[in-house]
Amino acid sequence: MGKKLKVGIIGVGGIAGTHIPGWQASEDAELVAGSDISAKVLAEWGAKNGVKRLVTDSAELFSDRDIDIIDICTPSMYHAPLAIAALRAGKHVICEKPLAPTPKDIRDMIAARDASGKQLMTAQHFRFSGTSRALKTEIDGGVLGDVYHARGWMLRRAGLLTRPGFIMKKHAGGGACIDIGVHILDLTLLMMGNPKPVAVSGVARTELAKIPGAFTRWSGPIPKEFDVEEFAAGFVRFENGATLMLEVSWLLHHDVEGDDTQMWLYGNGGGSHWPSCQIFRSNYKTRQQYNTTLKIKNDLREPHAQECV
Ligand SMILES: NC(=O)c1ccc[n+]([C@@H]2O[C@H](COP(=O)([O-])OP(=O)(O)OC[C@H]3O[C@@H](n4cnc5c(N)ncnc54)[C@H](O)[C@@H]3O)[C@@H](O)[C@H]2O)c1
Repeated sequence: MGKKLKVGIIGVGGIAGTHIPGWQASEDAELVAGSDISAKVLAEWGAKNGVKRLVTDSAELFSDRDIDIIDICTPSMYHAPLAIAALRAGKHVICEKPLAPTPKDIRDMIAARDASGKQLMTAQHFRFSGTSRALKTEIDGGVLGDVYHARGWMLRRAGLLTRPGFIMKKHAGGGACIDIGVHILDLTLLMMGNPKPVAVSGVARTELAKIPGAFTRWSGPIPKEFDVEEFAAGFVRFENGATLMLEVSWLLHHDVEGDDTQMWLYGNGGGSHWPSCQIFRSNYKTRQQYNTTLKIKNDLREPHAQECV
């Protein structure tokens, strides 16, 4: 084992807490610093996690030659400027989802990565679950043949976070689509082999959040500052002829208390469902239909930690 890479987290709120077990378990990296615009939050976080290097100006982490990796956990509008500054300072970057709210931001981040020669990783933790890994292994082995259609959705009934970084466009950059839609979209594209999209049509709208008395099960009333979309639906055509349908909502009148998160993939050799990890196939000679369920070896860490470790 060589020298451990030193990590500084920027934005020490909710999601940063889920990365810490990964950094603590890592044999290759160690958490040494944190930064947040709130000195109070930062001091509490530092005391709780035993992190002593605490700075309210993230530029101090970029100029710190001891730090190798910047872990960006701020609201999404700040991902691109922070990641680009970190890469230009010669740091590797892991950045919470969505990588950034606009394609231009993401292209600029990729250009900064290419110029720096460092790594830029998007923290799409769905990729790291045992069920995702098991299904991907089977799909890479050809169990579905060519996937020609996919459906993915992440739907909640009155389930959203009302912190400014989620509901105000100036901090979040967008609503449900880039908050939870990116999770299932990213996973579906990964399973499809990341085909090149050639046409996209979609809608984004807000219907329920503005009704007087609108609420979320997690934190009560929806603040009047809410100015992002609560619902989005999209249809994508790919260069290889495949198609994808996406549905996302924080607030739908839907028969579910938690998240209804599902992905269906349909190929010429079989179909599959996630997260149940079922595979559906047919024998056309005997006219038999087979359903199999993958057995998942449950020895992985929680996926947010797994992506850091
Ligand atoms: N992967 C997941 O499952 C998941 C879940 C929730 C949130 N997220 C993502 O994580 C990010 C943060 O979400 P959260 O729930 O932790 O939010 P949060 O509001 O709990 O925490 C964000 C922290 O960032 C700080 N901050 C804000 N602007 C900053 C800046 N410019 N520089 C430094 N610090 C700044 C805030 O003071 C706060 O402490 C978002 O991009 C969100 O999409 C991912």
